[in-house]
Amino acid sequence: MKKAIYPGSFDPVTKGHLDVIERSSRLVDELVVGVLNNSAKNALFSVHERVNMLKELTAHFPNVTVDAFDGLLVDYAKKIGAVIIVRGLRAVTDFEYELQIAQTNHEIDTEIETIFLTTRLEYAYLSSTIVKEVASYGGDISHFVPQQVIARLYAKYGIEGFDQ
Ligand code: PNS
Repeated sequence: MKKAIYPGSFDPVTKGHLDVIERSSRLVDELVVGVLNNSAKNALFSVHERVNMLKELTAHFPNVTVDAFDGLLVDYAKKIGAVIIVRGLRAVTDFEYELQIAQTNHEIDTEIETIFLTTRLEYAYLSSTIVKEVASYGGDISHFVPQQVIARLYAKYGIEGFDQ
């Protein structure tokens, strides 16, 4: 049985993340979405909020679960029996950073492999950081994040009066 972990900050989850979750869940028997619990990263959403949003949005995938983790990713992967790390690659700008992390992780534990899914073209520009920037000015984020995330994101910035 092949178990994979798709780790990330998911602050908040975007349509690009959900696309990677959907596609990678078809490649493995079990996919765990691992939400990094890192207080140093100054997240907008608490880890609890991020996990809950992801749980809601992935409830219809029978082989996907969501969990929070802290510490080293490879340690967590080993603890839950995951042998594959899934990461999304948007553009060439992601590549250097992702290569570094993948090679470091492989150096720490050679039994865990990283696989990359190229994001769909329509999400190639998308990042949680940019979505937060647009939301903070009350811009339209409906193309970027699922409906369930929109209200919670605007609420963080005290923005009211948008169409749900
Ligand atoms: O969504 P992100 O912020 O790009 O995800 C980064 C993440 C969570 C994959 C990465 O920061 C991570 O794995 N952090 C845990 C600590 C660790 O194991 N780092 C990798 C060794 S350099």
